[in-house]
Amino acid sequence: MSTAAYAGASPAAIGHHYDLSNDFYALWLGESMVYSCARWADAAGDGLTRAQTRKLDYFVEQTRAAGTRRVLDVGCGWGTLVRHLVDRHGVARATGLTLSPAQARWCQQHPAPRTDVRVENWVTHEPGERYDAIISLGAFEHFARYGMTPAERLTAYRAFFERCRGWLPAGGRLGVQTNIKGNNQRLDRRTVRDMLFIVDSIFPESVLPALDEVIVAAAGRFDVVSVRNDPDDYARTCAAWLDRLTGQRDRAVELVGEDRTADYERYLSSTVQHFRRRHLGLARIVFEAV
Ligand SMILES: C[S@@+](CC[C@H](N)C(=O)[O-])C[C@H]1O[C@@H](n2cnc3c(N)ncnc32)[C@H](O)[C@@H]1O
Repeated sequence: MSTAAYAGASPAAIGHHYDLSNDFYALWLGESMVYSCARWADAAGDGLTRAQTRKLDYFVEQTRAAGTRRVLDVGCGWGTLVRHLVDRHGVARATGLTLSPAQARWCQQHPAPRTDVRVENWVTHEPGERYDAIISLGAFEHFARYGMTPAERLTAYRAFFERCRGWLPAGGRLGVQTNIKGNNQRLDRRTVRDMLFIVDSIFPESVLPALDEVIVAAAGRFDVVSVRNDPDDYARTCAAWLDRLTGQRDRAVELVGEDRTADYERYLSSTVQHFRRRHLGLARIVFEAV
C-alpha cells in the first residue's frame, strides 16, 4: 500500500499537534514525556510518573515483550517506551515510529543505545526481520479520518492489523491502547461544541473508533486476549496534565502564545468531563496473532 492510499491523519495534521513545541509538552506531560492515558493505583499519593510507568509495564507484560530481541512501538511519541523496553526490560532492540519530526529530534537529543526512532508511517515501514511484540499507545486515533464512512474506517483499521500480523510470528502479541467512543450518547450542546473544537483545532483529520470497530478490524488475524475500558484513568491523567499546565501558565504562554495555551486548557478540561460522563472511553486491548 502506498502512503497516498493511507487513510489516516496526514503528516501535516500530525505536525499541527505534535510539532507545536517539545518544551511546551515537557512542561505538562512531566518527566515521563508520555502522552497517553496512565494507569493509576487507588492508593493515595500515586503520582503521574509512577502511573505512566505502571501503564508501560502493563503493556510490556501483557505483550510478553520483556527479554525479547525486537519490539516495535507504533506511534512512539518522545520515545519513552522504546527507552523503557531496553533499559528496564532487557529488550535487545526497540524501534519506534512517529510522524512528528519534532518528536524524532527530541529522541536524538536524548539518545539511548539499542533504540531506533524513525519518522515513518507504519504503512510503509519495512522491518527487514520480524518483531517479537508490538505496542501502540494513543496512536490508533490517527489511523482513520473524521468524515469517513464506517466501511472506510474499517478498511483503514484492517490495514493496520494486516501490517502488524505480517510482522509477528503466530502467537506474537500486539498491545493497543486507544480512546474510543463512549456509550453515553446523550450529548448536550456544550459537549458537541467541545468535541467539534477538538476535531477542528486540536486533532485535525483524526477520529475515535468504536470498540467494536477495533475488534472487528482485527478479526481473522488476531485473537483478543483481553479488553479493558478505563475511562476514569484518562479523566485523572488529563486532570493531572491540566494541573501542570495551569500551574506553569506563564511559561506556556511564552512558548506557544496565549491562544494556543487557552486552547489546550479547554481541550484538557473538556476531556476530563467527557471521560467522567462516559462520552469517551479508553480501551486497552491485547491481541495474539493467529
Ligand atoms: C498521542 S501520541 C502517543 C505517543 C506515545 N505512544 C505515548 O504514549 O507517549 C501519538 C503518536 O502517534 C504517532 N502517529 C500517528 N499516526 C501515525 C502513523 N500513521 N505512523 C506512525 N506514527 C503515527 C504520532 O506521530 C505520535 O507520535
